Amino acid sequence: MQLLHYFRNSIFLILALGLAGCAGTNSAPETEAGASETDLSLAEAYAGNFYIGAAINAPQIIGQDTAALRVLAREFNSITPENVMKWENIQPGPDSFTWEMADAYVDLGEQQDKWIIGHTLVWHSQAPAYINETTDPDQLRTYMEEHIRAVAGRYAGRIDGWDVLNEALNEDGSYRESVFYKLLGEQYIVDAYRIAAEAAPDAELYYNDYNLNNPEKRTGAVRIVNLLKENGLRIDGVGMQGHYNLNGPPIEEVEASIEAYAATGAKVMFTELDLTTLPNPWDLQGADVNQNFEGSEKMNPYAAGLPDSVSTKIAERYADFFNLFLKHDEAITRVTLWGVNDAQSWLNNWPIRGRTNYPLLFDRDSAPKEAYDAVIALKQ
Ligand code: G3I
Repeated sequence: MQLLHYFRNSIFLILALGLAGCAGTNSAPETEAGASETDLSLAEAYAGNFYIGAAINAPQIIGQDTAALRVLAREFNSITPENVMKWENIQPGPDSFTWEMADAYVDLGEQQDKWIIGHTLVWHSQAPAYINETTDPDQLRTYMEEHIRAVAGRYAGRIDGWDVLNEALNEDGSYRESVFYKLLGEQYIVDAYRIAAEAAPDAELYYNDYNLNNPEKRTGAVRIVNLLKENGLRIDGVGMQGHYNLNGPPIEEVEASIEAYAATGAKVMFTELDLTTLPNPWDLQGADVNQNFEGSEKMNPYAAGLPDSVSTKIAERYADFFNLFLKHDEAITRVTLWGVNDAQSWLNNWPIRGRTNYPLLFDRDSAPKEAYDAVIALKQ
């Protein structure tokens, strides 16, 4: 199925480029970073290796953010909904569903022939109050089953892969004490994948989490994959989110995790890649994380623009990661950036609101950055 999709996407892009060529001027427009529009796009450059995805949000889905949409159409061949399919958004009450934005997301993916990801069916965060406040295990199991059947079932045959379970682990590899684990124990994981497989039999099913490079957490993720296999259930891939920074984690640690997940037989994906470039309050010695850092110049050093030296650092770090991904492209099937451009990134508002961060491959005007050129250069 994936191979067919790669092929279809390549044809789509070749046709799109051909049309652009016919309709265009004699010389291709140069972007700010110098990339020419007739050069290979990211999706084309990496077509033989893995999908290149982007998370998208309402402004792109409803066609408001036209610059980002143009980049999406040309550069990416997979999409993930950053927020619109989360439980509290799609099923705010036991009997109330808000399908409009999620339907529009899937429609857009089909129009652009993307590899369409669903994110996410079971997650402790962004779950509505009626879930978090449930105290009856049978009621919670029923809620979970109804949610998965309704959402995964609605898009069966249209969504290509689901993040079934998101962030179920603590850093030491033990299970997070979410409402699901507290009331249902480990069995909720088994049930979630069984129900998802029944509701969306053609979709790939993933486990998705952050810090999956961390050796202790890695043990937990491998345990989840094995638990499902021992129960005769399907788990197609492990999604390493990839919220990294300029210094950590070490590439070797990320590599060891790719190898460990691949050894289970699961596909490996980088599902939410971004590189924060700003100081982290948790790294400051003696910093009180509850202190209000908003408006602090020290914590928002590049509000007026990024120095060339930092731009180059970001580009080099991206190149290091993509070199690693290429080395393991037998196992890696997708690399998704957590946003199309820097303006969209959640990292402008976390862990401190209102900062100017530079974590992605396209700038605030959706022009390719030095990091984009570095990633493309690996394939030229
Ligand atoms: O839509 C409302 C808006 O109406 C309101 O005015 C505004 C006020 O704060 O909030 C808006 O909702 C925000 C939403 O993003 C859309 O921008 C929520 O407060 C905010 O909590 C939410 O954050 C998202 C976060 O998940 C929580 O769902 C981020 O955009 C999104 O990038 C982030 O993504 C997660 C992945 O799903 C899982 N892995 C970690 C990753 C980063 O935290």
